[in-house]
Amino acid sequence: GRRSGATIPITPEAAQPDREQPSKIDECRRCELWQFATQGVGGEGPKRAPIMVVGEQPGDQEDLAGKPFVGPAGKLLDRVFAQAEVDRQSVYLTNAVKHFKWEPRGKRRLHKTPVQREIEACHYWLEKELAAVKPKVIVAMGATALKSVLRRATVTLKDTLGKPIRHDGAWVVTIYHPSYVLRVPDEAAKQEAFSLMVKGLKLAQELIE
Ligand code: URA
Repeated sequence: GRRSGATIPITPEAAQPDREQPSKIDECRRCELWQFATQGVGGEGPKRAPIMVVGEQPGDQEDLAGKPFVGPAGKLLDRVFAQAEVDRQSVYLTNAVKHFKWEPRGKRRLHKTPVQREIEACHYWLEKELAAVKPKVIVAMGATALKSVLRRATVTLKDTLGKPIRHDGAWVVTIYHPSYVLRVPDEAAKQEAFSLMVKGLKLAQELIE
């Protein structure tokens, strides 16, 4: 029920009324993140890909390149794709949030997790991508992607890992975010987390066959 806070629906267009909607991600002012980013980073891949993979937000290198998953997380993701025998080029790859959110740490730009309001604001773009691509399976990598895809603020990764959910006519498969796997300090645990990502991607592939 309401009190338990189990489901907080994210209302459409919560961040801004529906007038003057941006036509390009670079022109988006639905939240404040554009001010600190080099550019908006949209999705990449076939227009009608059966699988859409959703990350969190562009990182430092993605912000500079204007493409998703070209940095360290992308390199790990490439290894996941290879091991799962899924062609990266065959999936539509995007992020829940399209502008890089960061804070300065010395000379580096340190990733900051987007807040709910920013995820909501940017859902505008994910919705456009979903409507165009119409994937059969959405792979949500990490909690931010999962919240955005399901439009629920309180859904947890743990609840959905390994259990596909039917949502708006598509399957949603949750896997770890590659940056999480990169941060796991223990080598055996890292391997295990990596294997779970592979397993999840294989499951996504099975669901489209
Ligand atoms: N992490 C993400 O979630 N997305 C990217 O594009 C890069 C790193």
